[in-house]
Amino acid sequence: MHLLIPAAGSGRRMGSDRNKLLLSLLGKPLLAWTLEVAEASDYITWIGIMGQPIDFPDFEEILANVSLTKPVKLIQGGATRQESVYNGLQALPATAERVLIHDGARCLATPDLFNRCAEELFRFPGLIAAIPVKDTIKITDDTGLVQDTPDRSHLWAAQTPQGFEVKLLKDCHAKGRQWGWEVTDDAALFEKCDLSVQIVPGEETNLKVTTPMDLAIAEFILKQRVS
Ligand code: CTP
Ligand code: MG
Repeated sequence: MHLLIPAAGSGRRMGSDRNKLLLSLLGKPLLAWTLEVAEASDYITWIGIMGQPIDFPDFEEILANVSLTKPVKLIQGGATRQESVYNGLQALPATAERVLIHDGARCLATPDLFNRCAEELFRFPGLIAAIPVKDTIKITDDTGLVQDTPDRSHLWAAQTPQGFEVKLLKDCHAKGRQWGWEVTDDAALFEKCDLSVQIVPGEETNLKVTTPMDLAIAEFILKQRVS
């Protein structure tokens, strides 16, 4: 199965001077941790990484230090995550039937989660890893006045991996471009095209490293694992 890793962001909320995926986590760049998970996942046979060309020399160095047995392709990312995934889909080998998409910033996902998503992708055309929402969620109007409290038992926090049949997802992305849909994950494009998306139980520790605090939490979680 093919894997695409969106890694072309700038890490604005991290507040660092470069792409957050290049920041060190327990002595290794964030992206290296993500790649190691991909390497350890049984079903992944090919890895595409979408990045900004300015980061490619650093990505090459990371690849040289992570001993991957799987073929890797660097792909030019876009201005948004959606555009980066679009580019990634165009760069897939013609033989690719199913694809997992996993944010470079989710470096704590486990190979077990990848394996479970890959297995389920043989049963469902679209899926996402997700966990039940713990907080009570409020819906407000533009002034911050609460309008509604949705039933929490139907609320899920979306994660990656997200998996799709390549042909279907390509069609959804093409439609998204045509109609100017702006979404924050690929499942949303699937949904807009009235295609079904299955939830696969995600992992509490599979956080998206976004802020400096996330980096500290990620370090804490990894330390628990290696000790
Ligand atoms: N991403 C991407 N292309 C973009 C923007 C984001 O491939 N144009 C990737 C990021 O590299 C990251 C994933 O999408 O692995 C999730 O995005 P996010 O956590 O928002 O990362 P950034 O966009 O880098 O962070 P920020 O929004 O704080 O700038
Ligand atoms: Mg972003």
